[in-house]
Amino acid sequence: APSPKSTPEANANSNNDGKYPDVNWEEMGFSLTPTDYMYVMKCSIGEKFSQGSLIPYGNIELSPCSGILNYGQGLFEGLKAYRKEDGRILLFRPEQNALRMKAGAERLCMPSPSIEQFVGAVKQTVLANERWVPPFEKGSMYLRPLLMGSGPSLGLGPAPEYTFLIYASPVGSYHKGQRSLNLVVEEKQHRASSGGTGGIKTVANYSPVLNALSRAKAQGFSEVLFLDAATGKYIDEASACNIFSVKGNSISTPPTHGTILPGITRKSIIEIAGTLGYQVEERPVAIDELLDADEAFCTGTAVVVTSIGSVTHQGRRIDYKTQADTVCQKLHEILTGIQMGRLADTKGWMVEV
Ligand code: COI
Repeated sequence: APSPKSTPEANANSNNDGKYPDVNWEEMGFSLTPTDYMYVMKCSIGEKFSQGSLIPYGNIELSPCSGILNYGQGLFEGLKAYRKEDGRILLFRPEQNALRMKAGAERLCMPSPSIEQFVGAVKQTVLANERWVPPFEKGSMYLRPLLMGSGPSLGLGPAPEYTFLIYASPVGSYHKGQRSLNLVVEEKQHRASSGGTGGIKTVANYSPVLNALSRAKAQGFSEVLFLDAATGKYIDEASACNIFSVKGNSISTPPTHGTILPGITRKSIIEIAGTLGYQVEERPVAIDELLDADEAFCTGTAVVVTSIGSVTHQGRRIDYKTQADTVCQKLHEILTGIQMGRLADTKGWMVEV
């Protein structure tokens, strides 16, 4: 880990007078660039989180018998901080991440930080690492809050101790160099099933998709599209993002009834599209309907809003409109405009650090 060059307090009071670290912002993709500090807060089962602190970024100690390592008792979140043209730093809807972590923690029998603690800790992490927030329109700072059972639990049960941790990394585009994504529909494996954990952001939802994702990438695809486990007729989501289908004036996306991650970008796009006059429907979307759509796109904190160039299902490839004047492009323009500060934040989504 890099050695911090100044204290969090000093950073918190600075307004970054051009002293950025040696990063090539133009070349940045979505990979870890370690920053100076991370935030850590612990508590025992049956207690509430109370006091956390910033410590130098680095490896952490865990019981080999911890709930996270042995039984996957863990959640993660993802959100971004953006530097505006005037130098101010803004977070996009951080309280939504806090609420989602709280819901996931209840499902996994973990205590969770309060909304205020979560948002306050994110702000502290950004301020302590302020020099790593990319310049205006050169990317963003990705914050990764984690909540995990860190104490030992040999028999199956909730761990006795929990750790809430936030680290940060400057990031660029998730699918760097790809203007649109080529998806392949997974025929055998599923991401989530009814009554399972597909609707929370548990770490345990993400490694099971790696097999399908690796096979897809080996065949030159950018992403995998999963179908519902019950019938295999409806689209669920891709491995790292939600999906939308567009036909005429109508925009559809699967409903968040337990198998779909309630994405914050997803929710925001539904709102923006409604305001623009589109007919937005959260309902089951058949794969056949997607294959007949005019346009399709993915949403997520990491992928933002990215158009889908093609979907391949049972060896048949369908190509979509991806160029200028797409619905995806319009929605992307508005969402990123609000996030970067090019457009007025009429919805009150941005939170100043
Ligand atoms: C995000 O978009 O923030 C996510 O958590 C997806 C992750 C797999 C990169």
